[in-house]
Amino acid sequence: MTSHLFDPLQIGNLRLANRIVIAPMCQYSARDGSAGDWHLIHLGHLALSGAGLLILEATAVSPEGRITPGDLGLYSDANEAALARVLAALRAHAPIAVAMQIAHAGRKGSSRAPWDGGQQLRPDEPDGWQTVAPSAVPHAEGEEPPAALDEAGLDRIRAEFAATAVRAARLGLDGLEIHAAHGYLLHQFLSPIANKREDRYGGSLENRMRFPLEVFDAVRASFPADRPVWMRISATDWVPDGWNIEGTVALSQALKERGCAAIHVTTGGVSPQQAIKLGPGYQVPYAHRVKTEVGLATIAVGLITEPEQAEAIIANGEADAVSLARAMLYDPRWPWHAAARLGAQVDAPKQYWRSQPREFKNLFDGAHFGQR
Ligand SMILES: Cc1cc2nc3c(=O)[nH]c(=O)nc-3n(C[C@H](O)[C@H](O)[C@H](O)COP(=O)(O)O)c2cc1C
Repeated sequence: MTSHLFDPLQIGNLRLANRIVIAPMCQYSARDGSAGDWHLIHLGHLALSGAGLLILEATAVSPEGRITPGDLGLYSDANEAALARVLAALRAHAPIAVAMQIAHAGRKGSSRAPWDGGQQLRPDEPDGWQTVAPSAVPHAEGEEPPAALDEAGLDRIRAEFAATAVRAARLGLDGLEIHAAHGYLLHQFLSPIANKREDRYGGSLENRMRFPLEVFDAVRASFPADRPVWMRISATDWVPDGWNIEGTVALSQALKERGCAAIHVTTGGVSPQQAIKLGPGYQVPYAHRVKTEVGLATIAVGLITEPEQAEAIIANGEADAVSLARAMLYDPRWPWHAAARLGAQVDAPKQYWRSQPREFKNLFDGAHFGQR
């Protein structure tokens, strides 16, 4: 039996050993944006999972671009040094490709961590700050509104994305994912629910796409040309008259023309009114549509939990890769178990080769051991 899930995949010049992607997952555990021991432990064990690609959590391009005060950032020398330590440890012990999601939270910034309830921190509360957005419209009723960005603000944020890309390049990251999903700043520009502007950044689809595309260009120009940059997009707001799949296809097409290497297709996040239809693989049809109509490498995500399900998504040509978030936290060896179920091979650290179960003699690529 050959497994499609364990076929290699090219994203631009980046070769992934298989099509399992570890989705970006905020840890809310940084200090002033800097990674610490938690990141070393958390990313360390995910890096040993045998997945083809590890995408680091949403990493803010500025302090105001964080979702919570504990978000990871890459806007200072201290942030860069802290991540260099974590990445050096990963590189020394795991061959996995490592990318980073770079992000600005816009009006969803200044929030408490989920385990503290996730609500807005008002600007006058300790640790809170004044957020920014395309328009002075709050995310939820009764919240403190964001400040609408003027041209100088847009210039500043474009430059912050570019500066973060330069730092990410210095850190040797293999790729960059720009976060334009889940109701954060770039999604706020795309969605008519959050974007009420009357200048060239609001109104028509072309105008609403303008700032996200400018940010893409700024990042693409600041990151080495031989390493891929791609975007994560919410394909629908799940709200009537919100951002939708037609816009997603148009945006993906425009990104393709600018040298975007892939699209990571998710949904929702811009409005508390969203009515999501949840179920296994519920966002895969959106990825399939982007893949079919745009032809870029497409990553599907959302309630993909079973090896056979993941295998079918790839084998049926619905997406080029699958990305898993919660299932990877629950079972960080998910790719090993999937390889065993699908009769494939996976990379495992030599220190763990002896754990290969008897009935899966060829599970770990290159495994061999002996003793006197
Ligand atoms: C703990 C946690 C943190 C997350 N943080 C991010 C993030 O930083 N960026 C992002 O785009 N999505 C984030 N997500 C969403 C996931 O990447 C993923 O899209 C979502 O969980 C659905 O996939 P799943 O069903 O495999 O969990 C997060 C999800 C979880 C569970």
